[in-house]
This record gives sequence, structure tokens and C-alpha cells, in this order.
Amino acid sequence: MRKPIRKAVFPVAGLGTRFLPATKAIPKEMLPVIDRPLIQYAVDEAREAGIEQMIFVTGRGKTALIDHFDMAFELETTMRDRAKDMEALEPTRLRPGNLATVRQQVPLGLGHAIWCARGIVGEEPFAILLPDELMIGSPGCMKQMVAAYEEVGGNLISVLEVPREEVSSYGVITPGARDGALTEVKGLVEKPKAEDAPSNLIVSGRYILQPEVMRTLEGQEKGAGGEIQLTDAMARMIGSQPFHAVTFAGKRYDCGSKAGFVEATLAIALERDDLRDEVRKIARRLLGD
Ligand code: G1P
Repeated sequence: MRKPIRKAVFPVAGLGTRFLPATKAIPKEMLPVIDRPLIQYAVDEAREAGIEQMIFVTGRGKTALIDHFDMAFELETTMRDRAKDMEALEPTRLRPGNLATVRQQVPLGLGHAIWCARGIVGEEPFAILLPDELMIGSPGCMKQMVAAYEEVGGNLISVLEVPREEVSSYGVITPGARDGALTEVKGLVEKPKAEDAPSNLIVSGRYILQPEVMRTLEGQEKGAGGEIQLTDAMARMIGSQPFHAVTFAGKRYDCGSKAGFVEATLAIALERDDLRDEVRKIARRLLGD
């Protein structure tokens, strides 16, 4: 029996400068794709995978993220008095005690953000979800990863193929033997130049890691971009623990970029029963077809 994955860390301390001025006063993870903020998609995905405790690594100005998952007394009382349907609020309800937050305090990179959660994670394997990466699938990406974890244990990352010229924005793996959706990870490098990249398989923002990563991060030197990189710490764990990549069967939208955000909004609208027909008509009209 493997230890179950009960906790997920969401690094949400970023300043969201790419989306200014939208993100001047609200966290970028609160930007909605239709009617749900990005953070909601990520939390839903974790919950679907059986994860109970959500850990947000936040920073100043990010309290809206915590309010989003809290009771909204005035709103709920008013809605109840007016006999309004409260169903839309259902996904925002976490069991009391199941949201923990810690502040990163200094923007030293993703590896540092994860390390800041060490006290709450403790000595058990845990998940990481980067809310910028919107993963839509059935089952969801984290559920697919938990299923793979139950098979092989150790450390897992989700990967996907991108065109060669895009690899320099991501963590990239050196792939080993492949067995269905599982690929052995032989090496990892953060933001390599396209010509130096070991493959075009990128780390796509979902991880299941053993608690030892926290100790590896402890002594992690700065890497790409002068930041403490999670990828570098994971690379040092290869060889001492099993390390696999899971190729996600589903769709991925890069909501860290503006075009990716628009793509996600359109794609999800076209999949939703309540919007599909209307949005299809609008898109056709706009494209002049
Ligand atoms: C981070 C990770 C990188 C990963 C990417 C996915 O990079 O460091 O390995 O491929 O997320 O979006 P960032 O987007 O923070 O530069």
C-alpha cells in the first residue's frame, strides 16, 4: 500500500505582471475562464483526485483567493432570503480546516515557493498544481497522475509535447523507456535553449512528489532566471527514487499567456451545454464564415 496523496500545494504568490492592469488589484489566479476563476479549476481537479487538503503559497494582495473559498455571509444570507439557487457556490466550499496558507515573502522562484509549504506538507507525498496551466480531461490530469502513482509510486510529473521552438519557456525531460502513458524520467532541465533541449516533452504543471524534495530544496542553488527552480531539485532526486512522467490524456491551455487564455475561454465555452450554440454562432460571425 502506498501512502495516499492527501495534500496539494498551489503556488499562487506570483505578481501576474503579464496580465496588468487586470491583475493590479486582483490575483491573476482569480481571472475567470467564463464564470470560474483559474484557481477554482485547479482546486476542483485536486478534489476530483481525492485530495483533501489545499495549501496555498501566497503573497501580499492575494487574500481574494482565500475569501473565494470561505463563507460569504452577506451574499449567502441575501441569496437565501430571496430564495435564489445557491448551487453556483458549491465548488467554493471546502471542509473547514482544509485550506491552509503560507506566505512566500520573497519572490525567489517556484522551488522556493514549494519549500515554504514544508511545515504543512510534513512527511508525506504530496501534489503540486500550477493554476496557470488549465488541464481539462475526463478524468482530470491529477486523477490520471494519482492512478499512475498507485501503480509505480515515487515521483511523477505530467508532460506534454510542444513544438521545439517553445521548449525554452519550460522544464524539459530526458525521456527513458516508455510504457503506455508512463515514461521514465532520466533527466530534467529548466528552460534550456531549443538547440540544447533533450526532447520536446515539457513539464506541464502537475507533480506528485515525495517529501524528500523539501530537503533537496533546502540546499538548492539558484538556477535559470536567478530563481530557485523546482526542476533542478527534482533532477537531483533522479536515481535515488523512481521518477516517471505521465502523458496527460486531455487538453491543456496555457493561461499564463494572453492568447492561451482566450483559447481556454473559447474552447471551454464550446464544450459547455449552456453556451455552445450561442458561442459557435458568435465565433462564426466574427470570423466572417
Ligand atoms: C514553471 C516550471 C516549469 C514548467 C512550467 C509549466 O515555469 O518551472 O518547469 O514547465 O512552470 O508552466 P514558469 O512558468 O513558472 O516559468
